[in-house]
Amino acid sequence: PDGLRELLLSRIADVPDHPKPGVVFKDITPLLADPAAFGALTDAFVSLCERYEADKVVGLEARGFILAAPVAVRAGIGFVPVRKAGKLPGATLRQAYDLEYGTAEIEIHADAVAPGDRVLVIDDVLATGGTAEASLELVRRAGAEVAGVAVLMELGFLAGRQRLEPGLKGAPLEALITV
Ligand code: PRP
Ligand code: MG
Repeated sequence: PDGLRELLLSRIADVPDHPKPGVVFKDITPLLADPAAFGALTDAFVSLCERYEADKVVGLEARGFILAAPVAVRAGIGFVPVRKAGKLPGATLRQAYDLEYGTAEIEIHADAVAPGDRVLVIDDVLATGGTAEASLELVRRAGAEVAGVAVLMELGFLAGRQRLEPGLKGAPLEALITV
């Protein structure tokens, strides 16, 4: 709806030089503290679940958890965590991805999604696209279909969308805000 973008933007704070000099951190804690804004964000994501016929929501640790969990509840579908490696207790699939310096790994429970499931991946920010790209690998390796990726904010200057494109295999990438 009109005004959603402005509402969300007004509740995201720019924090210069965090976590290091030259980086402007996008702080979503004011948004989380405002139930009207957080609710509007949740409703927008729920609409995407409906549009893309998702039957599972995957949230990416950690900030993706906060945004995705209420979406799953309001959409009436299951929530599946993708966690940083070593946290999930059951049998997992693991995927490495590049960081600015070095690599990181994320995991999904191998039985968390099943063939026939359509999964919407939710995260707060698409930056280089590495995290989202790895999560799509996990969803597919676990046997499910990617219904789409939805983020609160896309940092256009980092070209994450271009990086993610091959991994989307035609699935949509929806960003509620692009900066
Ligand atoms: C941040 C952000 C996204 C990711 C985007 O997560 O929440 O998940 O980076 O970056 P990318 O597109 O370049 O992969 P991070 O792991 O830094 O921290 P978090 O655990 O607080 O979510
Ligand atoms: Mg994150």
